[in-house]
Amino acid sequence: MTRAEELENRLGLLVKFGGLVTKETNLNKLLDLIAKQVEEILSSERCSIFLLEASTNELWSKIAHGIGQTEIRVPVGRGIVGQVALTGAPLNISDAYASEKFNPEIDRITRFKTKSILAVPLKNVNGNIIGVFEVLNKRHGPFNEEDEGILQLLSSLAASAIENAQLYETISQSQLETIYRLAITAEYRDQHDTAIHLRHISEYSAMIASSLGLAEKQVENIKYASPLHDIGKVAIADAILLKPAKLTAEEFEEMKKHTLYGAKILCNAQSNLLQVACKIAASHHEKFDGTGYPNKLKGGQIPLEARIVSVADVFDALCMPRVYKPSWEPEKAKEYILEESSKSFDPQVVKAFIDIYPDILEIQRQPDPRSTIIPGIHKNLKSGT
Ligand code: C2E
Ligand code: SIN
Ligand code: SIN
Ligand code: FE
Repeated sequence: MTRAEELENRLGLLVKFGGLVTKETNLNKLLDLIAKQVEEILSSERCSIFLLEASTNELWSKIAHGIGQTEIRVPVGRGIVGQVALTGAPLNISDAYASEKFNPEIDRITRFKTKSILAVPLKNVNGNIIGVFEVLNKRHGPFNEEDEGILQLLSSLAASAIENAQLYETISQSQLETIYRLAITAEYRDQHDTAIHLRHISEYSAMIASSLGLAEKQVENIKYASPLHDIGKVAIADAILLKPAKLTAEEFEEMKKHTLYGAKILCNAQSNLLQVACKIAASHHEKFDGTGYPNKLKGGQIPLEARIVSVADVFDALCMPRVYKPSWEPEKAKEYILEESSKSFDPQVVKAFIDIYPDILEIQRQPDPRSTIIPGIHKNLKSGT
C-alpha cells in the first residue's frame, strides 16, 4: 500500500467511525463498537475504554476475558491509564514492562501480554475528562505521532457519543424507575409481595418473549411494560380488592374492569413502551379460545404481548399466596398452564414457557431482593453507568 493509499484508507475508516458511533445509544454496545473500530483503524491488538466514575474516583472498563467480560477498576493516578486520567496528557509507551508507570495487574487478570501502549484522555465538549482511551500492541513497530493524532481525533468523537449514550441511559432508567414505582403503588394495597410478583412477571415475560424469538427491543418493551398490567386495580374499591374470600359474581364483574381502567390510564401515550403497556393492561385476561374479558378476543386478535404476560401472570399468581387463596406448588401451577394450553393460553406461548421453565424456577428460588425491586437498575448502578 502506498502512503497516499494508506492515508485514504484511514480517512475512510474515520468517516465510517463517525457515522457508526453516533447511531448507537446503548452504552455497552457503543463501547464494543468503538473498541473494535479503533483496533482496526490503528492496527492494534486491543482497545480498552476506561470510564471515570466520579463518586469513587475510579476508572472502570469491561474487558474481554475468555468467553465473557470482566469489569476492571483502576483508581485515578494508578498505572498508565490512571496517570492519563490524572494529568490529561497522552502517554505513548513502546515497552510497557520496561516502564515503571505500568501496572501489570490487568494483564494478570486478562492473561493478555501488553507490549506497546498508547493512551489518550477522553474529553467531553467542555474539556472535562470522562475517561481514558487506550490501544495496546501495535502490529508493526511502536505507535507513532500520527497514531497519537488519530487516537485523539477518535477520542473526541467517541467521548461525545459516550456522553450521549450515558445521558440516554439515565433518562430511560429514571423513566423505568418511575414506571415501577407507579406499578408498585397501584398494587400494594392488594398484596405485600407485589414488588416480587411484579419482578417475576417482568422477568418471566421477557424470557418467554426472547424464547419466542422476538427482537431485542420488543423483549425489552415487554420486560418493562409488563409490571403495569394490573395498574387499573388502583380504581377498584378496597372492599372488593382486599376481600379475603371468593368474590360474588357481581363483585367479579367490577373486578374485571381493572383491564379497562388500566387501558384508560395507559393509552394514547407517545412512548412505545407505554403503548405496549396499554395493550398488555387491556388484554392480559383475554383467553385464547375467546372466553376471556373484557372483549372476548380470540387467538391472534389478542396482542402477542398480552398472550405472553397472561401466562407469566397466572403462573406467578398461582405460586403466590393471595388474600383469597393459598400459594400453589410450582409443579401444580405448571400443570395448570399446560392444561389451559389452547384454552386460556396461546399454545406457542405455553411451549416457550415450558422450554424455559427451569430458568423460571431458578428466578423463583432467588431470595427476595428488596433492593432490586426495579429490574436492572441496581445492576446498572454497580457497573458505574
Ligand atoms: P390475581 O390475584 O393477580 O390473579 C391473576 C390471575 O391468576 C387470575 O385472573 C386467574 O386467572 C389466575 N388465578 C389466581 N388465583 C387462581 C386460583 O386460585 N385458581 C385459578 N384457576 N386461577 C387463579 P382472574 O381470575 O381474572 O382474576 C383477576 C384478579 O381478580 C385477581 O388477580 C384478583 O386480584 C382478583 N380476584 C379473582 N378472584 C378473586 C377472589 O375470589 N377473591 C378476591 N379477593 N379477589 C379475586
Ligand atoms: C496500566 O494502566 O498501567 C495498564 C494498562 C493496561 O494494561 O490496560
Ligand atoms: C424507555 O426506554 O424508557 C422508553 C422507550 C420507548 O419510549 O419506547
Ligand atoms: Fe389482571
